[in-house]
Amino acid sequence: MERAKRKISHIEEVIKQGQTTLNSFDEMEVIHQSLTHLNWDQVSLRTQCGELSLSSPLFINAMTGGGGKKTEEINRNLAAAAKTKNIAMAVGSQMSALKDETEKKTYEVVRKENPNGVVIANIGSEASVDQALRAIDMLEANALQIHLNVMQELIMPEGDRDFSERLKNIEQIREHVSIPLIIKEVGFGISKESAKMLKEIGIQYIDVGGKGGTSFSVIENNRRDEHLQSFNTWGIPTLISLKEVSFAYPDVNLIASGGVRHGLDGVKALILGARMFGIAGPMIRTLMEDGFDSLLTKIDSIHDEIKIAMVTLGADHISKLNNSPHVLYGRTKEWIEQRTKN
Ligand code: FNR
Repeated sequence: MERAKRKISHIEEVIKQGQTTLNSFDEMEVIHQSLTHLNWDQVSLRTQCGELSLSSPLFINAMTGGGGKKTEEINRNLAAAAKTKNIAMAVGSQMSALKDETEKKTYEVVRKENPNGVVIANIGSEASVDQALRAIDMLEANALQIHLNVMQELIMPEGDRDFSERLKNIEQIREHVSIPLIIKEVGFGISKESAKMLKEIGIQYIDVGGKGGTSFSVIENNRRDEHLQSFNTWGIPTLISLKEVSFAYPDVNLIASGGVRHGLDGVKALILGARMFGIAGPMIRTLMEDGFDSLLTKIDSIHDEIKIAMVTLGADHISKLNNSPHVLYGRTKEWIEQRTKN
């Protein structure tokens, strides 16, 4: 299937798709505190993730671009929402626009709509140094994401099959990029082994992109007759991936995404050490099904939820949520017990 059609069909599948697997955030409970010392007006949502200074820990994660008028309109709306609510936004993979100049405007619209906002560029791990630099220029980006999507590629019949040079390639891009470079998964999570490899090549920002929300195994399987269903539940749940990555690489700038449904899931990620959290599928679903105003309302409620938790837990700053009292249950607890030992 040609690239542009594939992008639209991804969006259609995401809109159909609800939660596909157990969400690990449901196996974490934050402990209520009755005696807060805070006043609502003292609480700030500002956060610092390495060199990124943000007015909210919430960001719209990478989704779309390329594919013509329809994706341009989606990106314009997402960017307008990001601007109105002062949150960061990543664009979808720019690889198509790096190969075909006519697709550039579906990405450039994001910077045009939000000239002073935090905009994050996105490329695949096969990109050359030159492509990485052009992707950044296209958006005057504040950070660059490189997505790792080996499982998605393998499930797609037309997907890549050779990943042998990817780590070396990422290292080369890292050497030439001067803005924050974020390595992200697309819903399969990052393990402690992968985190160690990324640490060794000098990567300082990891977005775990874990399992629990949008699943590209399910999306790719639904698009064709020949199914590889056994991989529909493959991947590391987001909460667990946060634990794996911070165990292997404690001082990484940690970013959470994958199955974050609302502000409380976001708060749980922040308690586990993330400095920002991304939402992809639910943002585009709200925009396409309920419209732009509903997307703004959704962002407002996420901010309210974060603030409610912060006041209750006595955290006037996002960084103070780190390690707030909580418990883990079930499969999530068992996994972490087995994997966070040396
Ligand atoms: C994505 N995602 C994605 N990620 C990426 O790095 N580059 C991309 O081009 C895309 N494209 C894309 C399209 C659509 C329609 C969706 C829904 C998602 C993955 C996304 O950034 C995120 O990692 C996963 O979707 C998991 O987060 P959610 O959806 O559970 O919040």
